[in-house]
Amino acid sequence: MKILGIETSCDETAAAVVQDGRKTLSSIIASQVDIHSRFGGIVPEVASRQHLLTIIPIIEQAMTQAQAKWSDLDGIAVTFGPGLAGSLLIGVNTAKAIALSKDLPLLGINHLEGHIYANWVEGHTPDLPAICLIVSGGHSDLILMKGHGDYQLLGRTRDDAAGEAFDKVSRILELGYPGGPAIEKAALSGNSARFRLPRAWLKDTDDFSFSGLKTAVLHLAAEQDIAATTDIAASFQDAVVDVLVTKTVSAAKRLGAHQILLCGGVAANHLLRRMLAERSPIPVLMPNPTLCTDNAAMIASCGYFHFTTGECSGWDLDITPNIRLG
Ligand code: KG4
Ligand code: ZN
Repeated sequence: MKILGIETSCDETAAAVVQDGRKTLSSIIASQVDIHSRFGGIVPEVASRQHLLTIIPIIEQAMTQAQAKWSDLDGIAVTFGPGLAGSLLIGVNTAKAIALSKDLPLLGINHLEGHIYANWVEGHTPDLPAICLIVSGGHSDLILMKGHGDYQLLGRTRDDAAGEAFDKVSRILELGYPGGPAIEKAALSGNSARFRLPRAWLKDTDDFSFSGLKTAVLHLAAEQDIAATTDIAASFQDAVVDVLVTKTVSAAKRLGAHQILLCGGVAANHLLRRMLAERSPIPVLMPNPTLCTDNAAMIASCGYFHFTTGECSGWDLDITPNIRLG
């Protein structure tokens, strides 16, 4: 079964063709980072206009690279939420138009569920039940996945998402956008033991909170001179990773999970990947960093598992910018 995946929830225009949910035949991503970085963050109107300009060429490229004809496809899976409304609209309406004209079944995919399936697209078959840590620019969700389509939300951020905290702290430290890779790079030459930044443990819940940490960085940066930037970046990264890893491992132990599935843009962070693998008593699956940030292969893979159960969206499929998972 070959599925075309389309992803436009934020600032990446992406299309991919995936076979049987586990074999990526093509995955094309047009990043808008250069366009938004001069504004220090994503400008929604600019993002949707850019999606409009690039979506058709990106889909054509994905089809060409996969050596697929329209008649080879078995369905189209498209992100319908959560995300920026104007951006989601471009993907959903393009998918609808193609599905209608090429007589293909259409399926709307929850972007967060898509992130989890990045753990399938490299040919793996995760062992369920699993604890999924979805850490992106908009979410820090801890989810118990018992089967395909069977999710229980255990905890989420009460304020800033992990990726959002990286982006905001990067702005405070004047390291640029997107913040995650910028902080990670600065932290490489920093001493994480120099400053002890606060960790919000929120005991007895699986929720997260990163806004206190961000405020602590703001005060620290105001007290210190520029030479301390790399040490602050390293201390901040340490604090975020410590909380994410400790709470994920503790939920996995408590619930008897067979595996931990890491995903979302922040999952590209090398310290997080290393610490989670080191501290987890059960196997940890993590996609290649390029599959952690937004892509369409994960959407196509997720679509495949839904299509195989006979699911299909109607022509009234609409965007749902605030949809949750679990
Ligand atoms: O999943 P994603 O591509 O888009 C959303 O669904 O939000 O995640 C983007 C987020 C951004 O906040 C970015 O700063 C963060 O992921 N990120 C990272 C790294 N690479 C991307 N955070 C920490 N370390 C990284 N290497
Ligand atoms: Zn995402």
